[in-house]
Amino acid sequence: MTLGVFDSGIGGLSVVKSLLDSKHFKEIIYFGDTARVPYGVKDENTIIRYSLEALEFFKNFEIDLLITACNTVSAYALKDLQKQAPFDVIGVVEPGILAASNALTNKNKNILIIATKATIASKAYESHLQRLHFTNITSKATSLLVPIVEEGIFEGDVLQSTLNYYFEGVESPDAIILGCTHFPLIAQAIENYFEKDVKMIHSGEAILEYLQESYDLKNSYEKTEVKFFASENPDGLKAVAKEWLEL
Ligand code: DGL
Repeated sequence: MTLGVFDSGIGGLSVVKSLLDSKHFKEIIYFGDTARVPYGVKDENTIIRYSLEALEFFKNFEIDLLITACNTVSAYALKDLQKQAPFDVIGVVEPGILAASNALTNKNKNILIIATKATIASKAYESHLQRLHFTNITSKATSLLVPIVEEGIFEGDVLQSTLNYYFEGVESPDAIILGCTHFPLIAQAIENYFEKDVKMIHSGEAILEYLQESYDLKNSYEKTEVKFFASENPDGLKAVAKEWLEL
C-alpha cells in the first residue's frame, strides 16, 4: 500500500514515524505546506482552500490512501477532501476518538484535549466525545507549544513555564488527546507535568491502530520508502525528518 501523508508543515512527521515503524507500507509520499504553516490560526475557508490545493499535488502520485496528519485539516477539510479525492482520505480525529474511548471504559473519566486554536474552535474532538457520552471534557488551545517544538525544545525552562501557563489550575486528567501533530514530541514533559498516570492519545499510534482494523495490512516490508516534498525549503523538512525519524 502506498500512502500520501499531508500536513501543514513538519509536524506530520510524528505520524510518519508510527507508520514507518509498523513496516506495513510500501511507500509514503509526504507533503508539508511549509510555506503557509501554521494552519492552526487560520479560518475555515482558508484551511479548506489550502487542503484542496494540496490534494492536487497528491493526484500526481499513485497513492492508495491519503492521511491528513494535521489535526486542523482533519477538523475542517476532511469532508471536502473526501468528496474531491480519487482515493480514500482519512483524518486523525476519528482514530484519536476511538483510541480514547478504547482506553477509557468509564465515561466519567476526565479527558483533556489540547490542540491549535482552530482545532479547539471546531469542537471536532469535543462533539465526537460528547456523542459517545463522555461527560468530563476540558478543551485547551495550546498554540504556543507549536513554535516551541519547531524550535527543537523538548524539555527545560521555556517548555515548563509554557506548560505552567496553560495547565495551572487544570484538574489532572485521566487521558490527554494530543490533538496536534507537534505534541507527541513533548508528550513526556506533558505527562510528567501532571504527576499522575495519564493515558496519552497520540495520532500516529491511533491512526495505525485504525488502519490495522480497517484495511488488510498483512504485508510487511523491510523498509518503507519515503519521499518528502514541501512548498518551501524542502531541504529543511528533509533535515528534520532525518533527525526525528532517525533515517
Ligand atoms: N499540524 C497542525 C495540527 O496538527 C499544527 C501546526 C499548524 O498550526 O499548522 O493541527
